[in-house]
Amino acid sequence: MVGAGQLARMTHQAAVDLDIELVVLAASDEDSAVVGGAPYRLGSVASLADLEAVASAADVVTFDHELVPTENLVKLRRIGYRLEPTPSALRLAQDKLEARHVLSTAGFPTPAFESISSISDAMAFTSEHGWPIVLKSRRGGYDGRGVHVVDNPGQLASLLKGNPDEEAVWLAEEFVDITAELSVLIARTPAGRSVVYPAVETFQREGICRYLTMPATQPLRILEQAGQMAGSIAGTIGATGMLAVEMFVTTGNDLLVNELALRPHNSGHATIEACVTSQFHQHLRAVLDWPLGSTSMRSNAAATVNLIGEMHELDIAARLPQALAIPGVHVHLYAKTPRPGRKFGHITVLDDSASGALETAKAAAELITKPR
Ligand SMILES: Nc1ncnc2c1ncn2[C@@H]1O[C@H](COP(=O)(O)OP(=O)(O)OP(=O)(O)O)[C@@H](O)[C@H]1O
Ligand SMILES: [Mg+2]
Repeated sequence: MVGAGQLARMTHQAAVDLDIELVVLAASDEDSAVVGGAPYRLGSVASLADLEAVASAADVVTFDHELVPTENLVKLRRIGYRLEPTPSALRLAQDKLEARHVLSTAGFPTPAFESISSISDAMAFTSEHGWPIVLKSRRGGYDGRGVHVVDNPGQLASLLKGNPDEEAVWLAEEFVDITAELSVLIARTPAGRSVVYPAVETFQREGICRYLTMPATQPLRILEQAGQMAGSIAGTIGATGMLAVEMFVTTGNDLLVNELALRPHNSGHATIEACVTSQFHQHLRAVLDWPLGSTSMRSNAAATVNLIGEMHELDIAARLPQALAIPGVHVHLYAKTPRPGRKFGHITVLDDSASGALETAKAAAELITKPR
């Protein structure tokens, strides 16, 4: 697995269950998966030699993030290594503009978009779609970094000027009136078998997912449509392993595809406790072309609250027992030092209702993150 963050850490836990030797390519021996005991090699995704050092011993190469230079992926593939997902599928998680083009050309509904490389391009886009617009970096954004809601020409100018690479091409989007955000998780094998999880409803603040409920509490028609759309996207792009399809539900109850992640995803952490097969087990099974597991839920509902660093200092070790004293609380810590806006763990609770699960999970999270 290329990358050694919390997704690799939790994939390692699943690999142990199946006696799969998962070797991770880590940037540092302090990376989450390395601290969690995953076999590792230190190296950079920018170095083909470092990538080969993990790939050469492996039956299949997979990813905990998509920040690998495309030319290195293509070279690995040419040498003959088996990459799941393939570079052509992974490209859609690497480049938001490319993903928009491919999805809209294939007929999937997306927000109106345009590639923008100058202020006049952006102004032309606003004259068609009005203010505000959403400007996104094509590559490298996560947790809302690289996503800007722009209200007026002055803000637009300072954003495009403030960017060190003024010629960079941005993705401009219409600002969508969103009533809900969904994430549909799906696993697909190289042979084309797939299973879809019940849709998750995610709640973001400042571009970061704060919590989620599973299943989403949206009309059945929308949930069915979301599941079908995710399945059809997985087939169209040839996804392998886990795929997360983020969607917007508009005020008019239409579904629009936002972005794709071709790996286990933050929105899928509830599957560890809430589903018969966790997304991490499923990812391994899918990339190895093994039989996929049931995605059924073990309870009526579940909620996950992300643990996110705050401005104040946190003493997690001291607070952990207090959170664990609440019945039904499942805590996952990632061995990451809390910094403002940084996810360092999550808490999942199963319950009869989404609201009950959420209330308990939030209470436990609060005990860990509140100021001393
Ligand atoms: N066109 C839009 N209209 C309105 N809100 C939007 C739009 N695009 C994005 N958002 C809001 O910003 C959030 C982050 O956007 P997006 O998912 O594209 O970026 P990201 O930082 O790559 O996210 P992630 O952390 O999921 O990788 C969305 O979840 C949504 O709440
Ligand atoms: Mg997103």
